[in-house]
Amino acid sequence: MKNDNSNSRRKFLQQIGATSLFAAASPLSSLAASAKAEERMLTYNRKISSNDKIRIGVIGYGVQGHFDLRTALKVSGVELAGICDLYTGRLENAKEQYGKELYTTSNYKDLLDRKDIDAVLICTTDVWHARITLDALAKGKHVYCEKPMVFKISEGHPVIEAAKKSGKVLQVGSQRVSSIGYHKAKELLAAGEIGELNMVNAVYDRQSSIGAWEYTIPKDANATTTNWDTFIEATEKMNFDAKKFFWWRAFKEVGTGVAGDLFIHLLSGTHLITNSKGPENIYSTGQFSYWKDGRNLPDVMSGVLQYPKTKEHAAFLMTLQVNFISGTGGQEVIRLIGSEGVIEVNGNNITLKHSLMPEAPGFGGYDSLFTFSKSMQDEMQKDYDAKWTADQRKRKTKEDIVFKAPVGYDDHLDHFTNFFDSIRTGSPVIENAEFGFRAAAPALSCNESYLTKKIVNWDPINMKLK
Ligand SMILES: NC(=O)c1ccc[n+]([C@@H]2O[C@H](COP(=O)([O-])OP(=O)(O)OC[C@H]3O[C@@H](n4cnc5c(N)ncnc54)[C@H](O)[C@@H]3O)[C@@H](O)[C@H]2O)c1
Repeated sequence: MKNDNSNSRRKFLQQIGATSLFAAASPLSSLAASAKAEERMLTYNRKISSNDKIRIGVIGYGVQGHFDLRTALKVSGVELAGICDLYTGRLENAKEQYGKELYTTSNYKDLLDRKDIDAVLICTTDVWHARITLDALAKGKHVYCEKPMVFKISEGHPVIEAAKKSGKVLQVGSQRVSSIGYHKAKELLAAGEIGELNMVNAVYDRQSSIGAWEYTIPKDANATTTNWDTFIEATEKMNFDAKKFFWWRAFKEVGTGVAGDLFIHLLSGTHLITNSKGPENIYSTGQFSYWKDGRNLPDVMSGVLQYPKTKEHAAFLMTLQVNFISGTGGQEVIRLIGSEGVIEVNGNNITLKHSLMPEAPGFGGYDSLFTFSKSMQDEMQKDYDAKWTADQRKRKTKEDIVFKAPVGYDDHLDHFTNFFDSIRTGSPVIENAEFGFRAAAPALSCNESYLTKKIVNWDPINMKLK
């Protein structure tokens, strides 16, 4: 047994590449009862291609606009040239942060007209993403567009074609796609560490009012301070409603619910790790459990998606879950389950667990054998003993491993570094328009399925509804 373990360990190290081993940790509770877990630090050594100056504009300076801008400015050579937002308070906030001289506007087209801007970060509500992306590409700007890339499936192909035609970089903002943890999970899956993949259980739960999108609404919110007439140029005509402006995710007229907000992260991550182009069948259901605040999209929702067998992966079934009133206190995990183990993706940290079946089939114990006559039991036991050695009847064990990202590691910064590197060197980005659409379409289809109570059929290769 000892030999088995050390052999498999050696093989594992060869397959996976030895990342620095910093602690032999205590055993984790494991599917394979006697397997030990060890903890490894993921190595991180990022080179920046050049310092060439890139000037950026931000369109949509709400919560994520702030986080995106702050992160983008950490990449060397990146400078802020202007900020656009519809709510006056956010433009005041922009000047308070970056100085009175900062160019600000509520009209994104004016920002796109500026010759001193090379790239824009589109961090508006989802309903504006495609329209602003098309306008920005037409004006020769590189685009970092927040997820989901589109609000409607019909917007996908026009964005893909415009990105191709423009020759500019378009990267969608699911930052986990650039995470060293996710890339380790991809490597582990490809190395066959969990056998053949058959299921993905992906969960993103929360338990707070902010988590359920009840963001603070400013006291001066009105149709004028929010430029409401402009806001609804991309939607059906509606009277001013502060909730629809500030809690937009919860309303289907202006938002994409938990699917567009969180399923999309789980889908992007899974597509990266499995090299998948997407599911063929999508079904979703949901309910209003707790946040009865006028929202018309559920606060508890699940999706079931069937991924076909392709040359990149075996057929697998994916379950998606968001629970905004979860007594777990909240959790984010993608569990990739294979015939020989599980890869658990928790943020940038990865846990690999093994459980191997014995070579011999099951016999005796919780089985029908004891219900047979004594003579039949004896005869069959003799046959079994003659056919299978003791070793063949045992489960082999293989150690579990926890891979940890270094303290302070930031996937968001890596995602922006990839974006600006691509602008500087022409290297392709992973989360391009096709990737962005292939994650957005199944997420949006979950809403469609929930609303129509029907299965949505999708062609993941040609990216079309069937
Ligand atoms: N990648 C991530 O982890 C992540 C996290 C949060 C949000 N997001 C995405 O970022 C986007 C913004 O989310 P948020 O939480 O910042 O929302 P938010 O409501 O805080 O900010 C959205 C801002 O967009 C502005 N806006 C809307 N339409 C506009 C237009 N036509 N022109 C200019 N400004 C406009 C609004 O005034 C508002 O300030 C969403 O698409 C969301 O899905 C991504």
